[in-house]
Amino acid sequence: MMKTDSTTDSKQQQIEIGLRRTLARARWHILAKVFYEGLEAAAPYDGSVRLFNGFPLITLAAIEKESDQSNGNESNVWYKVKCQGSDEVNLEIRLPAGKIPFAEILVSRDSTGAICIWPSEKILGHWCLQNKPLFNGKIVLELGSGLTGLSGLIVASTCNPAQLFLTDGNPDCIDNLNLILARNRSRFISKDIPIEARQLTWGQHEDYQNLIGSIDVILISDCLYLENCHINLEQTIWSLLKVNGKCYIIAPSRNQSFEKFANLTGKRFIVQHEENYDPIIWSMHTTYLDERDRYQYSPDRHYPLLMILTKPRY
Ligand SMILES: C[S@@+](CC[C@H](N)C(=O)[O-])C[C@H]1O[C@@H](n2cnc3c(N)ncnc32)[C@H](O)[C@@H]1O
Repeated sequence: MMKTDSTTDSKQQQIEIGLRRTLARARWHILAKVFYEGLEAAAPYDGSVRLFNGFPLITLAAIEKESDQSNGNESNVWYKVKCQGSDEVNLEIRLPAGKIPFAEILVSRDSTGAICIWPSEKILGHWCLQNKPLFNGKIVLELGSGLTGLSGLIVASTCNPAQLFLTDGNPDCIDNLNLILARNRSRFISKDIPIEARQLTWGQHEDYQNLIGSIDVILISDCLYLENCHINLEQTIWSLLKVNGKCYIIAPSRNQSFEKFANLTGKRFIVQHEENYDPIIWSMHTTYLDERDRYQYSPDRHYPLLMILTKPRY
């Protein structure tokens, strides 16, 4: 039987709806996992085991709730940052409240940073606190800062950098970073440190033209799982760094994405990577490994590795 145009159209519409649903389901699946793993509040609990919820070195205590004026619902929450073993850090950060806004998940750009702080950001913040001299008097830039740029903020509040840039490709992250900066400026080690949040998409030269070859130290956390961005990320790091500049990256292996990035960067950077880079993190890791069922611990996804890139003089 010949199909009429309207039958063909409706079939086509059904296929498109099906495709959209599949795509939405796939995004939902990935982001829901991220959400649960990174969420500050209680992780899903089945009565016997708690899903792994990151290394508890930096924790957040809610101090103030904002509500959405249109419907009165809680929209964002301000948290006080607590760093284990240090009372130097006095910071407050803002994150979306409770549930992930569904519209945020279905947008086409990477929205992972606009949901929560990822675990490696906290690990990087802890590592910066343990290695303060690396940042003293340096021009520091964080790539893929997400909603909070927590490690950059820790550097600003305790390490006396000469200048700091918090950057991300997602404008929602930049809006949040600006609110956080406005609230915390008086808390930084020196009130005069120039600190800026700016939109910077990896590989888009116009976003960082005036910074080329000017950065001493780059910080990156949890950005290597985006394997299709590796080339642009590597080029951006190369362009931004001064000769002998360093880039410190914290990220889990996550399906070998860490190792693939290390191989790529090895073509022109000096690359070091370390598994055991901090005694506290290492001892927690070994405990989690010993009881991996109890902690629902998967080193591939949960153990953050450290990579150090140095831009050599050629
Ligand atoms: C998994 S999140 C990590 C955010 C933050 N570092 C953390 O750990 O909480 C990855 C971040 O990279 C940003 N991103 C992804 N692709 C990007 C690109 N091509 N250019 C700039 N930023 C990008 C996202 O907007 C997101 O904030």
